[in-house]
Formats: sequence, C-alpha cells, structure tokens
Amino acid sequence: MRIGVLTAGGDCPGLNAVIRSVVHRAVAGHNDEVIGFEDGFKGLLDGYYRPLDLNAVSGILARGGTILGSARLERDRLREAAENCAELATKYGIDVLIPIGGEGTLTAARMLSEAGMPVVGVPKTIDNDINGTDRTFGFDTAVGVATEAIDRLKTTAESHQRVMVVEVMGRHAGWIALESGMAGGAHGICLPERPFEVDSLVKMVEERFARGKKFAVVCVAEGARPVEGTMPYEKGVIDQFGHERFTGIGTRLAVELEARLGKEARPVILGHVQRGGTPTAYDRVLATRFGWQAVEAAHSGQFGKMTALRGTNIEMVPLAEGVHELKTVPAERMDEAESVF
Ligand code: F6P
Repeated sequence: MRIGVLTAGGDCPGLNAVIRSVVHRAVAGHNDEVIGFEDGFKGLLDGYYRPLDLNAVSGILARGGTILGSARLERDRLREAAENCAELATKYGIDVLIPIGGEGTLTAARMLSEAGMPVVGVPKTIDNDINGTDRTFGFDTAVGVATEAIDRLKTTAESHQRVMVVEVMGRHAGWIALESGMAGGAHGICLPERPFEVDSLVKMVEERFARGKKFAVVCVAEGARPVEGTMPYEKGVIDQFGHERFTGIGTRLAVELEARLGKEARPVILGHVQRGGTPTAYDRVLATRFGWQAVEAAHSGQFGKMTALRGTNIEMVPLAEGVHELKTVPAERMDEAESVF
C-alpha cells in the first residue's frame, strides 16, 4: 500500500509523534510506502511531497510542531482538491490519504472522502473541541503550559497585590481555560460557552481582599465574552479561512477590572506558547496510538473515518460524527469549576 500523510491547520504538540507512528506501522509492520505532503493540502494540490522512511522520522517523537509543515487553506482550494481527488490519488499513486488536523482539516477530509478518495483522518487540536473523541493530543500539553503560567503568575500577583488576567486559547470551546483554570486554582474562569458577569468577578476579587488575600487570578478563554451590555466589548472579524478573529478579551477585561476595583490588573496573553515545544508523555502516547490505528484502519478499508479515543480504547468513528458540531464544555463541567472559586 502507498500512503500519503499530511498535517494541516494550526500546529499542535504530538503531530510528529503521529507521523512517526504512521511510518513505523506502515513501513515496518506492513511493508508499505509512505509519502508526506508539505504544508498541508497545499502540498497535495501543488505537488510538494517527499518519501518518509524510518530514517526520516527518527528522533522526532518529542519534537513539537510538524516536520511536514502546516497551513490553513481557503475553502475554494479545498473544493478544488475534492473536485480533483481522483486525479490527485492517481498522480501520487496513493491508496489512502491520512490527513492529521482539526475541525477544518477533518471537514476537508470528509469532502475528499465523499468525493471518492480513500481517507482515514486523525484528529488533532490543543482546543480539544473535536466531537467523537474523548481527547485530542496537544490538549494535555497546552493545559500543562497554561497551568504552569497560572502557578507562576500567582506568586508575582501576590507580591504586588494585583489581579492577573490570563488569556488562553479557545475560540468556541473553553476546555483549556476550564482545565488549566481548575488545575492552577484560578479564582475566576471565563469560557466562550457561558457569557461572564464582570460584576461577579469584581465581587470575587473584593471578597478575596476583604479576607486578607491580596491577589487574584482570572483565567479567560480568548473566545469568552461578557453578558451583553455589562462592559465594552467588540466582536471580532471573520478571516479568509472562515475563523473569527478575537479582539483581546484578556486585555479588555484587565482594563475593566482595574477601573472598577481601583487595583492594579495585568493581562497576560499566553497565545502560541501553548502550542509550541515538546508534547507531554500523555500526548505522545495518544498521538502514537492514533497513528498506529490509522494505518490499521487503512489496511482494513475503514475509509471516511477518523481515529478516536473512547474511554481507554482507540476506535474508528465516521468523519461526519467528528465534524458535525464542535465539542464544547457542557454546563455541568462549568458548574464543577465554579464550585472551586
Ligand atoms: O485551533 C487551534 C488554535 O490554536 C486556536 O486555539 C487558536 O484560536 C488558533 O488556533 C490560532 O490560530 P493561528 O495560529 O492561525 O493564529
């Protein structure tokens, strides 16, 4: 079998572990050939690819990013790929394509699959917002980075009697804010799923100071927004890939809290630090298992599906299930987090 693999969308710790695992299982386990397309679907459309053998993936397990490069692609070009997928498969002589990516990539994978290309998807994203799988690799690493940031910010906040507003990634799903906020013991957590009350945050800080605690940390997802009309807030614009661009809720909220509390507040935007660097052991293992199972699925003809963690097992679920809606934080998980404030 000849397998094509690509990584698309925003990068994520663990991508290299999947690529390595695919190559190991395919080459050593099945005597397959593997080629890697560069910069996501661009490489597939424009003919940039290279053979991947065991040497090509040696030493990459712990490396962040992706050795293949990644890119987001405009919807028009993805449609072009779907329309030409039969020719593309023939051109590269591939029997199956394994795209590794988030919601956009898996939606493109579904389009290609429905257009007739044999596809096995592998979900990735630090946001953990892909439906159908209990976890995506990258998330554990991002939560670890954000948790460490909160831990560190607490000591400097306390020294200066400040409020720290830590903005973490998560446009529509607040998993990183929820779990890093819980793990770091943030005093307020604001998620995209539930508009926050700025008055409640002000009250929480005032009560802490009244109890003799001289600092507070608020963990806010980039896509969080206030209850309408309670503080100045601008909606972001939509970029050329169909993604909403946000306008800095962390900074906006710090300004608001400082004004209302009369205490110093500082925003800290963690941004791409959460995506960079080496994956945690958990993410390396999950990514490796996904890669192994993707190759097995290709050999058993389970096309149009993606790997998924269900409990402790890796199962194959239809791509349609993975992309029909985002997996957001359910209300009961938010309630649990609120109880730790
Ligand atoms: O989807 C992953 C993600 O890291 C989001 O959490 C974040 O909003 C977005 O990508 C950032 O995208 P970019 O790297 O294009 O700025």
